[in-house]
Amino acid sequence: MSHAKSHPHHVAIIMDGNGRWAQMRGRPRLFGHTAGARRVKDIVRACPDLGVKYLTIFAFSTENWKRTQTEVAGLMRLFKRYIRREAKALFEENVRVRFIGDRVRLEPSLVELMDGLELMTAGNTGTNLTIALNYGGRDEVTRAARRLAHDVAMGKLDPRAITDDTFPRYLDTYVLPDPDLVIRTSGEARISNFLLWQSAYAEYEFIDTLWPDFTEAEFAKVIGRFGQRERRFGAVTA
Ligand code: FPP
Repeated sequence: MSHAKSHPHHVAIIMDGNGRWAQMRGRPRLFGHTAGARRVKDIVRACPDLGVKYLTIFAFSTENWKRTQTEVAGLMRLFKRYIRREAKALFEENVRVRFIGDRVRLEPSLVELMDGLELMTAGNTGTNLTIALNYGGRDEVTRAARRLAHDVAMGKLDPRAITDDTFPRYLDTYVLPDPDLVIRTSGEARISNFLLWQSAYAEYEFIDTLWPDFTEAEFAKVIGRFGQRERRFGAVTA
């Protein structure tokens, strides 16, 4: 099975480097996150032309609560503002928005906006934008295992029916295909708990550019490089 010369159907992005981008300008970290949110808009808009049907972005991890109270509160305000301000445009651009991650720890007012945007765009058929918010790969797999164990205990699921095809139905991403390409900006070569199960066969691109400087042109270039690679999924070339 060779997928050479194709484009990635599902691209996932770890948007790293906002803090350093702001520090380099002598500004507070939130200034970088605000600039980062503007990049999100442009990258989402670039997807249809690049043939990217699914875009998944890492906005806030289960580990990000360890940041200062000022930064966490600022990020939460930014997410709320982004949803309020962008909902109409996302709807009109036929984007379907979903959120993954554990909503339990998020403020009810934010969860309400997230639910509203999901519902409002549920009928859209263009780009599938998934925003990972309070998301961690281990946390997701653990929550899935908990629900699975519950179904077994209730007699709804036969343990022999648990396979690597059926297990992912319990993940937050159950309706999404696996990512073909994972991009991380800002020069760090780490996965940081992002889409652990789903990225088993993904290609990785680690890019030096800080997220607020990541342009549509660079995005297109990275997508183009993907087409040059050959993915064998463990098989040999025919
Ligand atoms: C990582 O940079 C970035 C984040 C933790 C936040 C990502 C959020 C955005 C891009 C803002 C908007 C998102 C949406 C969905 C509107 P960092 O702070 O770790 O940067 P550093 O490594 O340079 O400190």
